[in-house]
Amino acid sequence: MLHDFVSLADLTTDEILGLLEQADDMKRMRRGGKTYRPLEGETLAMIFDKPSLRTRVTFETGIFQLGGHGVVMQSEKARLGERESVPDVARNLDRWVDGIMVRTFSHEAVRELADYADAPVINALTDKEHPCQVLADAQALREHRGDFANIKLAFVGDGNNVCASWFHFAARIPINVSLVCPQGYEIDAETLKFAKANAKGVVTVTNDIEEGLRGADAVYTDVWASMGQEEETAARARVFAPYQVNSKLMAMAKPDALFMHCLPAHRGSEVTDDVMDAPNSIVFDEAENRLHVQKAVMVALMSRSKDGLSPKQRARRG
Ligand code: CP
Ligand code: NVA
Repeated sequence: MLHDFVSLADLTTDEILGLLEQADDMKRMRRGGKTYRPLEGETLAMIFDKPSLRTRVTFETGIFQLGGHGVVMQSEKARLGERESVPDVARNLDRWVDGIMVRTFSHEAVRELADYADAPVINALTDKEHPCQVLADAQALREHRGDFANIKLAFVGDGNNVCASWFHFAARIPINVSLVCPQGYEIDAETLKFAKANAKGVVTVTNDIEEGLRGADAVYTDVWASMGQEEETAARARVFAPYQVNSKLMAMAKPDALFMHCLPAHRGSEVTDDVMDAPNSIVFDEAENRLHVQKAVMVALMSRSKDGLSPKQRARRG
């Protein structure tokens, strides 16, 4: 039973597949105009220490559509844990809200929040991981390719938070994932070791663009400088230039390869306009699916049984 949603590495294969099934249901209901309000009267606190378009709108819209209410806590001046301790933030929020969504810098702070809060905690991006994004991407990939087996996804660019969540996904779901990056920008050794030890498909890291893209069914990229790395933008632009996803690079993948990006895209940097706007680009399907998968996550974590408790609260109160 899911208690928090901090890392895809915490979930089993069945839990991930279950969330994807529920996300498909959410999408069907939304498209069919059907109302579904299992979280009537519940409140989600949303902590934003970094900017957002997609995450902010999809969580706030999602909790509203499920019958609940979102409270945005935007604190770019004082990050989580700076104004008061993370345990104290948890113990306050527990008295008022039914779920906590958090986008911040420190992954460890999100873990600490989850440890101290009785309310379920959802990671909406840290410096290390972005599990909501990859779940939405996976839903889009399955919609366009039917299944994950025998699919190769080439992640081109920085071995960053989104990339790490893809490697966690590959540790649970049979899919082949290859990181294609400049030397020095590989994913951290621990994530790679975990993915390799658990992967049912093939997971690789290479600096060789042609090798990494060979046979790719999907080409994924993300910004070269993530939020918090702005001062490295110019230096990174020089190092990453050969890894720009343009038509020449797309031609190294399968002829019908999909293009994917978590967005925001820096057009002209990590991706060119022609690739972003090509018919095989599914970037806005990925963005749409943020709504559906996060609704599935909220329902799984925040639904209360007859005793009035969520799965996490029930487990903690014995
Ligand atoms: N992809 C993503 O998380 O978008 P935002 O940063 O706009 O929320
Ligand atoms: N890697 C990017 C993802 C943005 C959604 C960042 O952390 O800024």
